[in-house]
This record gives sequence, C-alpha cells and structure tokens, in this order.
Amino acid sequence: MTAEIMNGSGLAAKLREDLRTELAPFQASPPGLAVVLVGADPASAVYVKHKIRACEEVGIRSIHVSLPATATQEQIAAEIRRLNAARDVHGILVQLPLPSGMDTLAALAEIDPVKDVDGFGALNQGRLVSGLPGFRPCTPAGVMHMLQAGNVPLAGAHAVVLGRSLIVGKPLATLLLAADASVTVCHSRSADIGALTRLADILVVAVGRARMITADMVKPGATVIDVGINRVQQGALAGSLCGDVDFESVRRVAARLTPVPGGVGPMTIAMLLRNTVDAWHRQAR
Ligand code: GUN
Repeated sequence: MTAEIMNGSGLAAKLREDLRTELAPFQASPPGLAVVLVGADPASAVYVKHKIRACEEVGIRSIHVSLPATATQEQIAAEIRRLNAARDVHGILVQLPLPSGMDTLAALAEIDPVKDVDGFGALNQGRLVSGLPGFRPCTPAGVMHMLQAGNVPLAGAHAVVLGRSLIVGKPLATLLLAADASVTVCHSRSADIGALTRLADILVVAVGRARMITADMVKPGATVIDVGINRVQQGALAGSLCGDVDFESVRRVAARLTPVPGGVGPMTIAMLLRNTVDAWHRQAR
C-alpha cells in the first residue's frame, strides 16, 4: 500500500482565500490579532513570523508584542491586560513555551476569554469538555478539519492520540470523542506504545520526537496524522524539518498520511485566523 498524502497546505490555502474574501469589505476597520512573544526562542520566533505573515495575507491586522526573557510575570500580565482593553485587538495569543520559570497557566488566565483565540484558557478548555461553543485550540481544530475534509470515518473508529498536552493531546482527544470515535490517549510514560498505536484506525502523534513512529507501529490501512515539527540533527538532511512519524516507512503501510512540512502546520495557522475572525464577529464592532 502507498498512503494518500493529505495536503494540509492546499486545504489551508483555500481557507485563507475564503477569509480574504470575507474580510475584503472591512479593510478600514479589520480584525486585530495581538501576538505576544516572550524571550528569543528561535523556533517560536519563526512560528510567530509565519502567523503574522498569514494575518497580513488575509486582511487581519497583527500587533506584535515582544517582551525580553527577563520580563516578570507581572509585566506579562500587565501587557495582556492592556491588550484585553484595546478596542482594536480582537484576539490575543501568547506564544508558548514561555521562558522556564514562568507560570504559563497564570499568564493564559489573564487573557479575556472572548479574545482567547488559541483556546488555551481554562474557560474555553472547560467549554470544550462540556460540549459548549467556544474557541477550540488551533492544532486540534486543524486536525479535525483535515480528517473531515479527507472523508475519514470517525464514528466508531478507534483513534489513538500519542501526547497529552494542553495544546494538542487533551483537546484533540475531546474533539475526537465528540465525533463519536473511541479514543485512547497515550504518552511518553505509557507501557508498550507500539502495542497501543497498532490498534489505531486513526493515529495522531504529537510527542516531539523525530521519526519515532515507524511502520511496525502502524496498523495497515490506518490514517496517520503527524503533528511533530523537529529539526533533523544529523546526516544529509541536517537542518531540515521532519515529523514524529518516519514518513518513508509509514507511507508504505498507512492509507493516509500527513507530511511535515505541509500537513498540520499550515492548518493550525488557518484555524488561528478563523478563530480571530470569529472573535471579531462576536465583539461589538
Ligand atoms: N506553541 C506551540 N504551538 C502553539 C500554538 O498553537 N499556540 C501558541 N500560542 N503557542 C504554541
């Protein structure tokens, strides 16, 4: 079997195009997204640059707030409170991870839930678990959109999520449950991970370990979604990006597989833009 490669870049481009059309009449007073970056983590700086560029492309005004790694928790909180009060800011995201020693949940708790376009705050996470409307975290929302666009059957399927983060694993497990999948969540401390991943009709991998999932860990005919973004450390491809899935071996057993780059990454950004436009609609303009 050779897997169908699921084209996140193409799907995301279509979503951005739709948003650009929707926003074209409103360029005198567009939606505004504030992106808060604390410190100088190189990977975070690249992600923030991509988000800001995508905003520009569709007609969302981006406000880039940069704080030094030495900023105090109170300085971050004060900056978020200023953005909460700004009438022309409709969405706020704090790029994670914050520098070590910072209290991430305390910073996220400062974001006004109506502007929490990453959906990481306790209120939006609780609404998700409760089945109430709210902002859904962008990567899980992007994965669900790709599965639906690819006509992957969800009801009754066994989905295995490898990773239990607040950003991906936990909210994605909740969304898959809401779509009537049976869900297993496993993680770095799970015993015999391969035995669990081999059960998956849908395998989503978000652990941050380069090429950890090999063909022998995948059920033939499965749909494999690779959320990992890792830098190749050695060999001819050093410096390039790879996922948590060993693409070349897994493509021979899976029915569908997302590439890295060009899979989940662009979908995450498209969902962020969508959430920002939704936030703008919900706030009195
Ligand atoms: N760090 C890794 N993924 C994300 C994301 O989706 N949003 C934010 N704010 N930080 C991240």
